[in-house]
Amino acid sequence: MNLNPDFVNLFSEITSKAAAASFPFVGLQNKNKADEAAVNIMRNELNQLDFKGRIVIGEGELDKAPMLYIGEKVGKGIGEEIDLAVDPIEGTNFVANNLPGGISVLAAAPKNCLLNAPETYMHKIAFSGDVEQRALDLDFSHEKNFKNLADSLNKNLEDLTICLLDRPRHKEIIDLANKHKIKTKLISDGDVAGALLVTNKNSKVDLFLGIGGGPEGVIAASALDCFNCNFQGKFIFSSEQDKSRAVKMGIADLEKKYDLRDIVKGDSIFSATGITSGDLVHGVKKINNEFITQTLITHKSQNLIKKIEKTIKSK
Ligand code: FBP
Repeated sequence: MNLNPDFVNLFSEITSKAAAASFPFVGLQNKNKADEAAVNIMRNELNQLDFKGRIVIGEGELDKAPMLYIGEKVGKGIGEEIDLAVDPIEGTNFVANNLPGGISVLAAAPKNCLLNAPETYMHKIAFSGDVEQRALDLDFSHEKNFKNLADSLNKNLEDLTICLLDRPRHKEIIDLANKHKIKTKLISDGDVAGALLVTNKNSKVDLFLGIGGGPEGVIAASALDCFNCNFQGKFIFSSEQDKSRAVKMGIADLEKKYDLRDIVKGDSIFSATGITSGDLVHGVKKINNEFITQTLITHKSQNLIKKIEKTIKSK
């Protein structure tokens, strides 16, 4: 079953409104307030749509997040059954500190077609469709992946660029890249947009890899699918509590390596609106009493990938 194309406009309107709502908090060093504004508006807007929505990735579980929690039902409860992964602000530090790259993002798929990801870390690799899909694998060593990537793209190792979060946990990968003179693009946050760099030849990023949030992995995968890119993810469960929560969420094999197809099955819509300007989309511009937003929107079954601008009236 495919998603109704009307949702393309509706969902892009929602991430635009969430971006506009958080914009007044840009640079105020208050992540929670910015997030609250985006969450409130996203939830209100979702609840005005004719659909039976279910949050599969959200702000956390009911006990920790009063709104847009995992399992929350949204929409008017009539029409299509749709699962949603939402991140009202991805890159809360960027927004709080007025740095490039804050986005408001939502991914949607027909019911049961989007992986219900626990809030744990995930090993990830993302690479373009120009690379032979089986050439890279989370089970291979980083060395083997780098060599296979270079062979597949017919490049020398020193002509490769990889992107990863700038974290101490990635020291081994960064050292290895340095050894081979592979260029690294180290991002301070925002690994949804980081993973999507592989979709854009101008970014010159050949591979996104490393450990980041599992929910962000699922969201990125839904966009990567539309760009015919590749993604693999594997959750990291560091405590017994994490493990039992994952089992409750229906994850039977805790060691499973997820291919893109295990994460997004069939149709999907992805919408990301810029809050602060970054590599993916421009940030919100406020002109008089209006917010001008830019959104990257994709819809798999329509082969749709486009950037759109919207004008949101300030309330
Ligand atoms: P938030 O917007 O929720 O703060 O997440 C930002 C982010 O950089 C994600 O893009 C990434 O997956 C995760 O945090 C990485 O987590 P950590 O900062 O713990 O390494």
